[in-house]
Amino acid sequence: TDIPVKEKNIVLIGFMGVGKTTVGQLIANKLNRDFIDIDQYIEEKYNMPIPQMFKELGEQHFRKIEKETVIDICKNQHDKIVSLGGGAFQQEEIRETCLTSSFVLFLDLSWDSWKERMDILVDNRPVLHNRTLDEIHELFEKRQLAYSKHHLKIRTDDQTPEEVADSIVNKLK
Ligand code: S3P
Repeated sequence: TDIPVKEKNIVLIGFMGVGKTTVGQLIANKLNRDFIDIDQYIEEKYNMPIPQMFKELGEQHFRKIEKETVIDICKNQHDKIVSLGGGAFQQEEIRETCLTSSFVLFLDLSWDSWKERMDILVDNRPVLHNRTLDEIHELFEKRQLAYSKHHLKIRTDDQTPEEVADSIVNKLK
């Protein structure tokens, strides 16, 4: 299937650490489009790393900034590759805006594969702090419901980011 996405933003969603930023940057290079990582964009705009934002301003405040930023970018930009933070799609307004204005791509990784990457993710992911493995698994499962709203899903188990990006680009037109 060739999916027409010309001029639309392509938005990448999925759980923390599935490769949204890496794959997003690769797709952007291949399609010769600009890349925006929402978390990096927020960190630059507010001049503060996300973990510090969680600590000093609180998660609620971060979620508000996240919502404003995603909606602003989806509505006022086009032709971009945009990667969202793993929690963004929990917010209904973000979901609705992205699904109506953009082409939403879900990077789907199994829990078993994700678990193996966990150690390298924990440090700068405040959402993972003070949670047991069982609790993180629960969060992982709960979020799949939000991610199930998408236009295209790519299974990323046993594939390099380069392979994932290639298979995505081959499906787009
Ligand atoms: C979050 C994921 C992070 C970042 C923040 C919260 C989440 O983004 O937005 O730490 O709630 O899942 P990544 O998915 O890029 O790690």
